Amino acid sequence: MNLNIEKPSIMTSPKFIYGVATASFQIEGGVDDRLPCIWDHFCSQPGKIADNSNGDVACDHFNRWKDDVELIDSLGVDAYRLSLSWPRLINQDGQLRASGLAFYLDLLDELNSRNIKPFVTFYHWDLPLHLEEKGGWLNRETAYQFRSYVDQVSKALGDRVYSYATLNEPFCSAYLGYEAGIHAPGHKSKTFGKKAAHHLLLAHGLAIQVLNQNCPQIKKGIVLNFTPAYPDTDSRADKIAASKADDHFNQWYIKPIFDGQYPELINQLPQEYQPDILDGDLEIISTKVDYLGINFYTRAVYSAADNEYGFEELPAQPPLTDIGWQIYPTAFTDLLLSLNKLYDLPPIYITENGMADADKLENGAVEDPVRVDYLQKHLNAVNDAILQGVDVRGYFAWSLMDNFEWAEGYTKRFGVVYVDYRTQQRTIKQSGLAYREFLKLRKG
Ligand code: FCB
Repeated sequence: MNLNIEKPSIMTSPKFIYGVATASFQIEGGVDDRLPCIWDHFCSQPGKIADNSNGDVACDHFNRWKDDVELIDSLGVDAYRLSLSWPRLINQDGQLRASGLAFYLDLLDELNSRNIKPFVTFYHWDLPLHLEEKGGWLNRETAYQFRSYVDQVSKALGDRVYSYATLNEPFCSAYLGYEAGIHAPGHKSKTFGKKAAHHLLLAHGLAIQVLNQNCPQIKKGIVLNFTPAYPDTDSRADKIAASKADDHFNQWYIKPIFDGQYPELINQLPQEYQPDILDGDLEIISTKVDYLGINFYTRAVYSAADNEYGFEELPAQPPLTDIGWQIYPTAFTDLLLSLNKLYDLPPIYITENGMADADKLENGAVEDPVRVDYLQKHLNAVNDAILQGVDVRGYFAWSLMDNFEWAEGYTKRFGVVYVDYRTQQRTIKQSGLAYREFLKLRKG
């Protein structure tokens, strides 16, 4: 089974950047060499993680990073998207941790020595626990702590980084972590979600300002996830429901960045759900970025409902992935076209796309034809958007390797490389081999 781009475009040229992505808490382990974070604490509470696991060892990347970089290189990718662990880099007193810094300096040097472009995210959900104890993202001060972290670390990393992202998926941090309670820190309250979101977006804007000063030559942006919202029927009520869901879960996070304002929905929120917005915040949040990172996995279908939100998400229909998400590639094209129409966007990178499958290692190999097909369809869905005028510059498969999938623990495998957690042995899956072949052919 091959991967190929069906119609020539920038995606078939060597200018387009292809990569693989990971995140610190999901792969690193090395827990004794950092401060605790909110996910350590969340995992320690029974029943929060499907297999009651934690990130203490994960893929042991903290010790195996050199071999892992060799593995990344062997795939022939142009770039590697990783995230930095804030609790590894900054002490309780807000100062840099030398050993944490040394870890990332070595890693980045190794990537650069192999001509793999480092795409570095500052925050992929592992908030230092001591900051959560002071209110976490409900506390405005956390945004200023984030600025200080970004300031010190970007100075220390110098020119080793190709591209910075401030945050990964603030929707997940805010909504799943502070409103739905299914991610760390596990708060469940409608009064919290939008407040946390605002402080996250403020942190993003403050960080972009600092990065503009410290490293004007490095590309800067943010990574947002989108689950396009479709109405169940053509009825006006369902269309309104889908549009409301879209405002809550998608537009809420992009509109302030590119339009300097929240969706109109803000005027319908009861007072207690409102974010605490101070004068000047939206100017900070809308500080110009060089690119937008987009993560796409699936879509959602909504119908009108007589509840507080005014909508209800319907159960996902087949074909489903192992995590229960519908495979629906045309939503990817539609999403890119609609964002391109709604906003005056900078260049786009697809910073995550992939699927969970119930992979099995058999006779030293992993056959995952469904994932190959998923990648094939989604790469071409991106290409369809490019051919219709959307400026996409790169694509990252999620993930380099199987890892700690948050509330699902190690039960869901997203990698193009299989990880045997008993031995930590890595095996490139059929999808990883197909990706490698595709990249090789493209380079001629
Ligand atoms: C995204 C996360 C990433 C991974 C994938 C499956 O929401 O950014 O860490 O868990 O989902």
